[in-house]
Amino acid sequence: MGPGDLKKALCDLPLIANPNVIRGMANLDDAGVYKLTDELAIIQTVDFFTPIVDDPYTFGQIAAANALSDVYAMGGQPVTAMNLVCFPTKSLAISVLKAVLRGGIDKMSEAGVALVGGHSIDDAELKYGFSVTGIVHPEKIVTNAGARAGDMVILTKPLGTGIISTALKAKMVKEATIAKLTRCMVTLNSQASELMQEVGVHACTDVTGFGLLGHTVQLAQNSQVGINLKASSIPSFPEAGEFARQGMCPAGLQRNREFYSPSVKIAPELPDYRQDILFDPQTSGGLLICLSPEGAERLLKQLKRAGVADAAIIGEVVSQPRGVVTVK
Ligand code: CO
Ligand code: CO
Ligand code: CO
Repeated sequence: MGPGDLKKALCDLPLIANPNVIRGMANLDDAGVYKLTDELAIIQTVDFFTPIVDDPYTFGQIAAANALSDVYAMGGQPVTAMNLVCFPTKSLAISVLKAVLRGGIDKMSEAGVALVGGHSIDDAELKYGFSVTGIVHPEKIVTNAGARAGDMVILTKPLGTGIISTALKAKMVKEATIAKLTRCMVTLNSQASELMQEVGVHACTDVTGFGLLGHTVQLAQNSQVGINLKASSIPSFPEAGEFARQGMCPAGLQRNREFYSPSVKIAPELPDYRQDILFDPQTSGGLLICLSPEGAERLLKQLKRAGVADAAIIGEVVSQPRGVVTVK
């Protein structure tokens, strides 16, 4: 059995209809949304993973920013979170656990989120993350199904975190690059989420494990549109390109390529290492936002003013071919 089979098993679960489920298993969106009243819905998401940086406090912060991201992508306000901890008590000191938890709670409090509980088990390998609950007005949910032909596409963070994290495990990354990578991954998507809603957004998702192309394909398929991306406009860490050229590719990158290639057309002249970056699984990646061209110009200005320095318009939504992402 491989990870593809895992995904298939999850997708094959019976779908049990419930009129209050606004976004559920069938929608392949960032989070589940459940309507409580006509004015209030809850957004629920869960995410946890093994360390991608050496510093335990930083890892805790990244895990929190990453878990919150799905709520921001759906236009919600995260309100509560619970810790999910798998910890190897035999091989790691309790001070490591404390630092991880402190990173998590500090990031949650920066987001204005109350940590209300959690669950921990003894495990062979450290894993950490959260379940997060957010709130949203049921009519103001931002899904990945609302993109329209003519929209522009904005990405708010640079790509390449998976490739650089792989190089980090091989001890090939300089301190300055680690600092830059870390700063990006601990940054909340809250500002980008607030600004996109002020300006008016049609569709959004966050770029995480399936890489830019995987998440763009999902958005294109759910919105029944095509998306054209301009490779030279897509922000990425220059170091990711260097490491990709040296063959530093996470296992998830190859899986993403295999799974999503049938829905992607890439100009053959785009060098391999550039293609790698587009399939690279991201941790705590940026928001992928679709909105009108006038809105896109305004949002981009506001994002830059708010310090979301790497945000860029990376492509446009087209009517055909539906469900296909084209990279030129
Ligand atoms: Co997501
Ligand atoms: Co998620
Ligand atoms: Co418990």
